[in-house]
Amino acid sequence: MRTTRLRLVGAVAALLVAAGIGAGTPAQAGHQQSTLADLAQRHGRYFGSATDNPELVDGPYTALLGSEFDQITPGNGMKWYATEPQQGVFDFSEGDEIVDLARANRQKVRGHTLVWHSQLPGWLTGREWTAPELRAVLKKHIQTEVRHYRGKVFAWDVVNEAFNEDGTYRESIFYKTLGPGYIADALRWAHQADPRVKLYLNDYNIEGVGPKSDAYYRLANELKAAGVPLHGIGLQAHLALQYGYPATLEDNLRRFSRLGLDTALTEVDIRMQLPATEEKLDRQAEWYADLTEACLAVRRCVGITLWDYTDKYSWIPAFFPGEGAALPWDEELRRKPAYFALREALGGR
Ligand code: XIL
Repeated sequence: MRTTRLRLVGAVAALLVAAGIGAGTPAQAGHQQSTLADLAQRHGRYFGSATDNPELVDGPYTALLGSEFDQITPGNGMKWYATEPQQGVFDFSEGDEIVDLARANRQKVRGHTLVWHSQLPGWLTGREWTAPELRAVLKKHIQTEVRHYRGKVFAWDVVNEAFNEDGTYRESIFYKTLGPGYIADALRWAHQADPRVKLYLNDYNIEGVGPKSDAYYRLANELKAAGVPLHGIGLQAHLALQYGYPATLEDNLRRFSRLGLDTALTEVDIRMQLPATEEKLDRQAEWYADLTEACLAVRRCVGITLWDYTDKYSWIPAFFPGEGAALPWDEELRRKPAYFALREALGGR
């Protein structure tokens, strides 16, 4: 069934491209077409994209970013290295730029991210800390940043990538110095600083049911039972064609809902080994449709965010040599089969 539909999507896409429509903006196509955000809103979901400060000088890029999506996530600007480059010296200029842009385009913002082992400032990683010292540093970082963005972001990825693939705790500086309790502490500190913002744990390779998502399920259960403020689980969904589709995604979303948690697909991209072929792009399109349908099928899956929307600014080629073409718009900002599959999965024509 999926294959038939996909072929149809592909055929329609080819027709539109042939007619010169696919590459244009809706206005250029001569009629006002609903956006991915419009379509998602009909289901009570948002449809977003990450973005990054250096890209904001690209006019055609920001035009699409501002019109097609109703949510944005700063790709780097709210990370620790950017926001507290020296101990106790805070710089929110990059994150503020994203928040201002979102406000101008009436978009929601996901805050990303407060506690993570990566992209930490040198002053933090370059020395030893006692547990009381690091606790104080962590609390101050979290509370200063959350207070700054109070009322401006609707959700925070409070802790990012806390587990290893086998479901054991990642041996980050925070885990090694403070033990597993750093996660509950981080959530409590964030909640004190903004009692209204939704607090998430976020990770990759937790789309399907498996040892890593089981670890989140267990932890979420424990945190809930202990009354710790946790509101959602973010599934990054950095997928790759060569590793197969996470077929248990919908079941996995549903089990977190049953715990009383929101879920979100927070950093979606679907990479492939280059060169991209028509067959791979069609398979990619099918996966984009499938993950969208999974989110729509589970009430508490609140929205989907692409990890940027165009191959022009994707992080994939730099981090996974030989791979790319991961997003629904290509490097020239032309729509790919994945874009048309997303529209159809969201109920658009
Ligand atoms: C990536 C950014 O997109 C890159 O620009 C940066 O160099 C490295 O980080 N998981 C996450 C994101 O939670 O913060 C990462 O973003 C991608 C993987």
